[in-house]
Amino acid sequence: MKLESLAIKYHDGELSILDQQALPLEEVWINCHTIQDMCDCIISLKVRGAPLIGIAAVLSLAQYAFQGASIQELRKAIQILVTTRPTAVNLKNYMDAIDKQLAQGNLVVAEMAKAIFLEDIELCEKMATHGANMLPFEATVLTYCNTGSLATAGMGTALGVIKKAHQAGKIKHVYACETRPLLQGARLTAWELEQAKIPYTLICDNMAGSLMRSQKIDCALVGADRIAMNGDTANKIGTYQVAILCKHHQIPFYVVAPYTTFDPACDGAKSIVIEQRAPEEVKGFMGKINFAPQKASVYNPSFDVTPGSLISGFIFDKGIYKADELLAMLN
Ligand code: MRU
Repeated sequence: MKLESLAIKYHDGELSILDQQALPLEEVWINCHTIQDMCDCIISLKVRGAPLIGIAAVLSLAQYAFQGASIQELRKAIQILVTTRPTAVNLKNYMDAIDKQLAQGNLVVAEMAKAIFLEDIELCEKMATHGANMLPFEATVLTYCNTGSLATAGMGTALGVIKKAHQAGKIKHVYACETRPLLQGARLTAWELEQAKIPYTLICDNMAGSLMRSQKIDCALVGADRIAMNGDTANKIGTYQVAILCKHHQIPFYVVAPYTTFDPACDGAKSIVIEQRAPEEVKGFMGKINFAPQKASVYNPSFDVTPGSLISGFIFDKGIYKADELLAMLN
């Protein structure tokens, strides 16, 4: 079995990921040999983005099965992988799906891994088409975090829409928020936009308000890590602020996500576990620079939740929905 995307490669038991912590300065591929290797890569955000985290975990299980792991060992691995990043629901959805099928034998893991990988590429295409059709010509779009091919197996979610719209000649300009503290916007989205030759400007997160006041922004497009039944949406910390700014400036704010990021078992914000990360991420950068006093107390949630009421629409693979239509989407 051979599966390849921009950020992950699997070939008959060989699994490697493009180190997203090293980008854009270096393109380094890391070989993963064990479940623990993959857990380390997920926790350290070397592989990241809700869909890709789930896919990486699934491929790690496929590798383990290829190495001869028993059903019991695979079940234990699922329990470990699922705890690595608690907010992105794709990981849990995929782990639950594989766990359910394991009784059929460990060969089922490779089959499911392939299906999940290929499905994600298709879901990206569908979201991108719906989103690109919706955008006006000459669109100026603001985006947050990284939601492209580095976050999925395909062209991406919000960034996939931007890429597709650019191919259709609809994009005038993209504003990419840097996305503190780990700079997924500055490092990864800027890198992908540059590769796709899409005109963009990078802004610090705290410039979004001033930008919206001074420039015509047609819409904000962001991704999601978990979408609750009522439309409340967990995404990269800072997304909520963008949504509030959009509301104030009457700019449509869209969430772009595949159905695999929808959590029908979650009724709203209160039920979403928010991953808290190390203080060092805020006090410095990647362990290389420290700019805050050593003893500074730090608040570092990795995600925030934007209420469904602030979201103009959800661009899913099935189509575009309002928060109060999500229940209907299930049918
Ligand atoms: O911590 P990260 O980089 O994994 O967070 C990523 C995001 O919040 C993305 O917006 C989300 O996962 C959607 S990616 C298609």
